[in-house]
Amino acid sequence: MTKVALVTGGTRGIGAPIALALKDKGYTVVVTYHSNEGAARKFQKDTGIPVYQWDISDFDACQNGMKEVFKNHGPIDILVNNGGITRDGVLHRQSTDHWNHVIGTNLTSCFNMTRSVIESMRERGFGRIINISSVNALKGQVGQANYCASKAGMIGFTKALALENAKKGITVNAIAPGYIDTDMVRAVSEPILEQIIKTIPLGRLGQAEEIARAVVFLADDHAGYITGETLNINGGLVCN
Ligand SMILES: NC(=O)c1ccc[n+]([C@@H]2O[C@H](COP(=O)([O-])OP(=O)(O)OC[C@H]3O[C@@H](n4cnc5c(N)ncnc54)[C@H](OP(=O)(O)O)[C@@H]3O)[C@@H](O)[C@H]2O)c1
Repeated sequence: MTKVALVTGGTRGIGAPIALALKDKGYTVVVTYHSNEGAARKFQKDTGIPVYQWDISDFDACQNGMKEVFKNHGPIDILVNNGGITRDGVLHRQSTDHWNHVIGTNLTSCFNMTRSVIESMRERGFGRIINISSVNALKGQVGQANYCASKAGMIGFTKALALENAKKGITVNAIAPGYIDTDMVRAVSEPILEQIIKTIPLGRLGQAEEIARAVVFLADDHAGYITGETLNINGGLVCN
């Protein structure tokens, strides 16, 4: 039986190359998205990978959506918590709505999605959970207290979950990408992006495929001794 991988936010950005790289490795892959129907339809048509739509910040939506996924594809072996958003603004002007939206989509989603697969992974004695955090969890960023808190929360979540499940054949790791060339980064104004690129030792944005390769590595059976780790992929911006 081929292993089944689910990538949240897998129809564009970093998630799409992750899904494709996992498919290329022979996994059965399914992806989720939220509201960009056009990107989802194009992704499904181009790749043949099934897409599912729900809001990962909504617990009930995740449980209902996952029931459908289990029915169609069986239990999940590899979960990539990738879907996420930014709602930038300095904290002294930040709305409760922007705070809650970012924490819900980036962090609470990890609980919602992981809760739906973890019991089955424990029963089956195998699982790979890979959480896409951010360099800004480690270094902070002006205007991103909500985002940095959510992404740093993912790292704590990763470490605790790794300990809880280490004896059950389940590894839990985070990847902390630096600035990767996707819609999320292209939304930053050109002058600010130029300034950011000047601070990156490798002098360029990362490519989503460079994150995807690390996900494939961590998902592999042979990565079974790596757990609770955060892998920085940021062009040298922040080192451990
Ligand atoms: N790009 C970077 O430089 C960078 C750096 C560090 C970390 N990251 C992290 O990497 C992940 C992917 O980023 P990206 O650059 O690929 O972002 P992106 O291009 O904006 O794509 C985000 C994906 O998340 C999905 N999504 C957003 N809100 C959702 C919700 N409520 N429910 C379900 N899905 C939702 C989107 O679905 P729709 O297509 O339907 O909108 C989309 O598929 C994020 O967690 C981000 O924080 C990115």
